[in-house]
Amino acid sequence: MDKIIISGNGPLCGEVRVAGAKNAALPIIAASLLTPEPMKIGNIPGVRDISTILKLMELLGARVERDGTGLVIDCGEVNSVQAPYEMVKTIRASILLLGPLLARFGEADVSLPGGCAIGTRPVNEHISGLEALGAEVSIEGGYIKARAKRLRGASYTFDVPSVTATENLLMAAALADGITTLENCALEPEIPDLAQLLCAMGAKIRGAGTSSIRIEGVNTLQGTIHHVPPDRIETGTFLTAAAATRGDIIVQDTKPEFLQHVLGKLEQAGCLLQQGNDWIRLSTGGKRCRAVNVTTAPYPAFPTDMQAQFMALNSLAEGSATVVENIFENRFMHVAELQRMGADVELQGHTAIVHGQARLQGAPVMATDLRASACLIIAALAAEGETTIDRVYHLDRGYTNIDTKLADMGAVIRRE
Ligand code: EPU
Repeated sequence: MDKIIISGNGPLCGEVRVAGAKNAALPIIAASLLTPEPMKIGNIPGVRDISTILKLMELLGARVERDGTGLVIDCGEVNSVQAPYEMVKTIRASILLLGPLLARFGEADVSLPGGCAIGTRPVNEHISGLEALGAEVSIEGGYIKARAKRLRGASYTFDVPSVTATENLLMAAALADGITTLENCALEPEIPDLAQLLCAMGAKIRGAGTSSIRIEGVNTLQGTIHHVPPDRIETGTFLTAAAATRGDIIVQDTKPEFLQHVLGKLEQAGCLLQQGNDWIRLSTGGKRCRAVNVTTAPYPAFPTDMQAQFMALNSLAEGSATVVENIFENRFMHVAELQRMGADVELQGHTAIVHGQARLQGAPVMATDLRASACLIIAALAAEGETTIDRVYHLDRGYTNIDTKLADMGAVIRRE
């Protein structure tokens, strides 16, 4: 099992390019099941979650050709509708196959993903949404079995604005018979991106990116070409690492508009930010950041996927701040590891009170999930001495070559 070893050695300085967004690429790959024609997708991130979902697509009968960050997926000869537990348990986003498989083939057997390190992560919204479109859904032997000769357009209101449930319903309704209206939809930028792809395939969708989406179902969809947008969480992770190490970096190939709330918080922490169309520069002037309160909520508010990284930043900042996690019930696993490095964090339910320390010390720590790994990387870069981060396979699920990218900005980092 890989470990990352970091010697905290001062500011991150230089330039870094971000990869395509994992959470945008996953639904796009799933959407290729909606057509028998090949899809050409660019800017695919080189992360493990993508290799895993591509293996799953191959298992279903898809032909996948990868060439660097480019990808051609041909679902013309898909011959299975079953996403088995062995694969789904390693990648929860496999739930995204449910909507497209059902819409195109009239049936789908997708293993229930079960809980994960950050919470129970129910899928009731995916199921009730598809039932509203006329699917018969049962749970048998740990599998969601969904059947519908042809889905029918309907109105459905999400109880909670779930990102992947909105994506699943959008894909399913695109091939349904008639008009679907979805209310209380998630607003994350991955949703209008998916809608843009579906429209290029021939779907008729209005309102994606707002809470109310209207989809006029069509009979068939065709292949198209799509470029995955930049990863807003990777962008935010590098900026926070630069802030915590009192650095000065430019993040290239990004989209500042995707993370305005995070940028506002970094400014509140005392960082100077400049931005262009596709770049952001963060400078600290060598100064220590101030602690900032953050409360996670659906987009466009502060993302849960940046909470752990800000916990590391606050642990090293001047003053105290609260970090409130409102999306997932168990997303504070990194706190115990940060405490091993000398962080002063009190947990009260879903609120963490962080008292910033002048310094943290390197220690052996263990990554518990993807963003918790990023938090430990940031803490280690800014800490005194050496930190060994175990179980970095979590990190590799969502960050492309993070160790090389950090090394290029001056980090002393190696993988064993
Ligand atoms: N929820 C339900 N029922 C459902 C679905 C969701 O109650 O059927 C609740 C969840 O328990 C949670 C809230 O709704 O409290 C929002 O969860 P959501 O469904 O939006 O999360 P997701 O779609 O499973 C995506 C990202 C996550 C990210 C969340 C929140 C993908 C593949 N995953 O998950 O990304 O944290 O949205 O923004 O898009 C990550 O990249 O590290 C990651 C975990």
